[in-house]
Amino acid sequence: MKTYKIACIPGDGIGKEVVPAGQEVLEALAASGAGFRFEFTSFGWGGDWYRAHGKMMPDDGLEALRDQDAILFGSAGDPHIPDHVTLWGLRLKICQGFDQYANVRPTRILPGIDAPLKRCTPKDLDWVIVRENSEGEYAGVGGRAHQGHPIEVATDVSMMTRAGVERIMRFAFKLAQSRPRKQLTVVTKSNAQRHAMVMWDEIALAVSKEFPDVKWDKELVDACTARMVNRPASLDTLVATNLHADILSDLAAALAGSLGIAPTGNIDPERRYPSMFEPIHGSAFDIMGKGLANPVGTFWSCVMLLEHLGEKEAAARLMQAIEEVTADPKLHTGDLGGKAKTADVTAAVVSRLKNR
Ligand code: IPM
Ligand code: MG
Repeated sequence: MKTYKIACIPGDGIGKEVVPAGQEVLEALAASGAGFRFEFTSFGWGGDWYRAHGKMMPDDGLEALRDQDAILFGSAGDPHIPDHVTLWGLRLKICQGFDQYANVRPTRILPGIDAPLKRCTPKDLDWVIVRENSEGEYAGVGGRAHQGHPIEVATDVSMMTRAGVERIMRFAFKLAQSRPRKQLTVVTKSNAQRHAMVMWDEIALAVSKEFPDVKWDKELVDACTARMVNRPASLDTLVATNLHADILSDLAAALAGSLGIAPTGNIDPERRYPSMFEPIHGSAFDIMGKGLANPVGTFWSCVMLLEHLGEKEAAARLMQAIEEVTADPKLHTGDLGGKAKTADVTAAVVSRLKNR
């Protein structure tokens, strides 16, 4: 029987609660005759590791992950460690180290979820945001000088390469082409950012020629926020820079009902390295350790993980179990206005997988 090696990195905060829940659901799926099994390895990296070792993960940590088939990640962030240290020391180290340059963020209003837009039905909001995940505003280029003096200076330089933009555009056009509407919106800001974003637009136009069957348009990022609220059905697949997509994907998740539901995949489309799947919510210290976290974002991320492994049927079964569970308001966690606990939602998904 095929065995998939999955690295689990719960990280910090509620990551420690939702990743084990995801693992439980994947185990249940495998045990219910899916035709494959999992071999999980857990890594205790994150804030606690930092307190013990002075870093978020070991220097050679990527080596331990390299031969895994995929990574299930929780969150990185600790109230006692600066956010840029936790982010760059763990999550970005893995994303950038493994060149997971395509960050894929689907958004839908799942059954039973009350979304805030009053004129929007679930069929009007079915998006995938493709986030450039390797450069741009997160390139890490910049620095500080004259620290502590009145003339102190600091820069964060957004850096875009032709190769980097071409590959994310090609990925986004291909993804749009695989969806029923074959429609892509290229998010830009080339009115104000007159160098890199103009190159971004030029490359979008050039790559579009390879995909004559994909309808595409361009939208400025600020206008895009309004369009997401006012005309959600006019969007399908979107591609945006690292920071623009970071912001748009939180808006998308909120419009679909809750940040607790939204999944993501950090993907190396060339499959040179393992890809990493995670809920987009953060570590949520206000509710950590209480069993209140919504595990649905992690479960949906597990669906993406299974799709990435080529296990389409198992992925569809898990998605169906998730949707049956969200459809029942008694199984809603606090972020959705309900009273259910992480363990209740997990048990409900597991039992639906068993009874099939
Ligand atoms: C995300 C998150 C991260 C990001 C944070 C935790 C730094 O918001 O994955 O969207 O900005 O990339
Ligand atoms: Mg974000």
